[in-house]
Amino acid sequence: MISTIDMTREQLENLLESALRFKRGEDTSKPLAGKSVALVFFNPSLRTRASMQVGIYELGGNAVVLEPGGTSWTLEHRVGAVMDSDKTEHVAEFVRVLERYCVAIGVRTFAAMKDWQEERRDPVLDAFAKYASVPIINLESAMHHPCQSLADMLTIREKLGRGRKRVVLTWAWHPKPLPMAVPNSFALAAAQMGHDLVIAHPSGYDLDKELIETSLQAARAAGASVEITNDIDAAFTGAEVIYAKSWGSKQFYGNTDQDLATRAQYRSKWIVDEENMSRTNNAIFMHCLPVRRNVIVTDGVIDSPASVVIDQAENRLHVQKAVLARLFGG
Ligand code: CP
Repeated sequence: MISTIDMTREQLENLLESALRFKRGEDTSKPLAGKSVALVFFNPSLRTRASMQVGIYELGGNAVVLEPGGTSWTLEHRVGAVMDSDKTEHVAEFVRVLERYCVAIGVRTFAAMKDWQEERRDPVLDAFAKYASVPIINLESAMHHPCQSLADMLTIREKLGRGRKRVVLTWAWHPKPLPMAVPNSFALAAAQMGHDLVIAHPSGYDLDKELIETSLQAARAAGASVEITNDIDAAFTGAEVIYAKSWGSKQFYGNTDQDLATRAQYRSKWIVDEENMSRTNNAIFMHCLPVRRNVIVTDGVIDSPASVVIDQAENRLHVQKAVLARLFGG
């Protein structure tokens, strides 16, 4: 469960239907009874950690939460590394020991924002997958956050019904460059689900070329479209979904100061406010959270009836239960 890339539309639909059965209380199965799932967090989390722990409990299982460098040893992932510095244990042993206790391993490992070419290959998650013989569940890596995008798709389905929507993924100004996992996974899943996707960002803040190409192919296969624009006003016009997210520029990985200097000009324009929302077709407002109020989105928008961010966060629980049930025979 690294991304939704290899999932068919039918598999995605089945996961959303399963999530809805859990949400409505129609599915009370316990496919994890007597089983433990490891959750490995290299980075902080509220929603992912809490919803995974609760979901595993509700499926009858036990969550083992580990934080390398905190509650477990610092971890090396590079093949052939000479471990004479700050790393105590290699992923090769970490994974193969953990899977003697646990039936799956969830991993959160953000981009370090230092080397784009290296990080776009998701090297840490890749190392876990390489050594594991149990399922690896991506809880947000440098490039993908599939559990988030499944919850996003479920939320759009619940709020707006089935069928094709004009879905706008908009970049927003933020005081530091952030990874691209959420926008990547949202773009991909929206295209796979047959929405007309508009990606709006300032010049120079393009998403990964290969990811965009994959999304374009998925959209074509689903009879939908992907449009990329640098014009935030045009993007918002007629939108049914506004999904806000900030991300760093690929060209400035390893050079935060240059990214910050470049993005300064976009602060007042690239924010979701009441004026931008008034151009939409009564769009719902979405964000994966955590969100910086009055930076990414104004209080007026996030506190309005258009905002579905809390339902979106709740849906993390239901889609992750669906994923775990699918993996373990529920
Ligand atoms: N959206 C999301 O993944 O939230 P956390 O970072 O709090 O887990």
